[in-house]
Amino acid sequence: MAARLAELTPWLRGHTDLWRPRPFLLGRVPWEDHHPTLSTWLRGLDEATVTALEADDRGLIEAPEPLSSLLAQSRELAAVPASVRMPLSPVDAWRPEARATERKRAQVQALVETLAAAWPEAPGLVVDWCAGKGHLGRSLSAVLGRPLLAMERQRRLCEVGQVLSAEAEVAAAHLPLDVRQAAGLPCVAWRQAAVVGLHACGSLGEGMLDFAVAQKAETVALAPCCYHFASGPLPYRPRSAVGRAHDLQFDETSLRLPTYQQVRQAPSVGERRRRKMAWLMALKALAEAAGTPLDGPPGPVYKGWNNDDLPTFVARMAERRGVALPTQWDPEVIEALGWQQARHARALGLVRGVFRRPLELWLVLDKALYLQGQGYEVALTTFCAPSLSPRNLLIHGVRAATARRWHGTEEG
Ligand SMILES: C[S@@+](CC[C@H](N)C(=O)[O-])C[C@H]1O[C@@H](n2cnc3c(N)ncnc32)[C@H](O)[C@@H]1O
Repeated sequence: MAARLAELTPWLRGHTDLWRPRPFLLGRVPWEDHHPTLSTWLRGLDEATVTALEADDRGLIEAPEPLSSLLAQSRELAAVPASVRMPLSPVDAWRPEARATERKRAQVQALVETLAAAWPEAPGLVVDWCAGKGHLGRSLSAVLGRPLLAMERQRRLCEVGQVLSAEAEVAAAHLPLDVRQAAGLPCVAWRQAAVVGLHACGSLGEGMLDFAVAQKAETVALAPCCYHFASGPLPYRPRSAVGRAHDLQFDETSLRLPTYQQVRQAPSVGERRRRKMAWLMALKALAEAAGTPLDGPPGPVYKGWNNDDLPTFVARMAERRGVALPTQWDPEVIEALGWQQARHARALGLVRGVFRRPLELWLVLDKALYLQGQGYEVALTTFCAPSLSPRNLLIHGVRAATARRWHGTEEG
């Protein structure tokens, strides 16, 4: 893992000019001067092709250099082996009222099968960190026959989880609490615990590793997500000694890049996002024409604002941002311009997209190496197909003494 992080660092550092600048904010990005053929090719892509390449970038292998080579390098540098799984019949008593999507069920199934294969003996207790309704913890507990402690901040999710656990006949406590206070919870069983977190966001996942280390939990399994979430002081401070030696000084934009636009979206959601981008570009053009250019990001767009028409949208946004609009403008012309500029920004953004997974891997390796440095035997794998969840990296740690016992190599 240390060697991989060391290999990723110079590649990422050497191409900062390609992944740091944001075309959506800049319009024209500096690297276009150095790669005019690529710039022209990307700007010439039509709307449908850009949308298709955003969903699946394999087609970029036909792009002009350096993009096609970068894509191949990215694939090679970011390759991670798949977990070994123990096939199980569908776990947990999934009920309609569990209101879990097919995707969530399949993710949980894959993770339970992975952990069942990794653990030759069941932990004393399953601790589900940022549990939501506790689907992962409950499924694991049901398979292993062990009690569950699910920690989740939203009281309503805990209440639903508690009902579902009772129905599944799993001995469970769904605690409505902020996991950042969990370290103060007295529990005699932490050492025998398996602490698991499916998509525990940003620093909450890091807090989970700290918690497991402090309590000497036997096993840890974390599938991280949203690396920018509550990231604390910036630039990002690497957790591991190796990470610190190869520090890339990630700012918030860099931490957001791995998950940017990668949430699996219903077609209507994708369409709304594309329209929002086009209308924001229209706003930008109008503000510029009125002599009050927008500086920096346009800021959040309130839900529903881009369900109205373009003139209402830009009027609201301009008022909120304190920019002027021309007294007269043609909505049809400006909307067409907005779509064109948004398409160009999205097409140029495909270059940044190639760096997403390597950046994500760097951040996950840093966490995995931290855990390793705290006396755990650590493996990094993918627990499900990216189509099921693009956040499919799994850090799995077993305390060294336990790992030795499992491998039958205990000293003395
Ligand atoms: C992405 S969801 C994952 C939920 C669940 N593990 C799953 O995969 O279905 C993250 C969860 O973390 C919870 N959460 C966020 N901040 C928290 C905190 N400080 N303490 C406890 N839970 C928190 C959210 O309410 C949300 O349910």
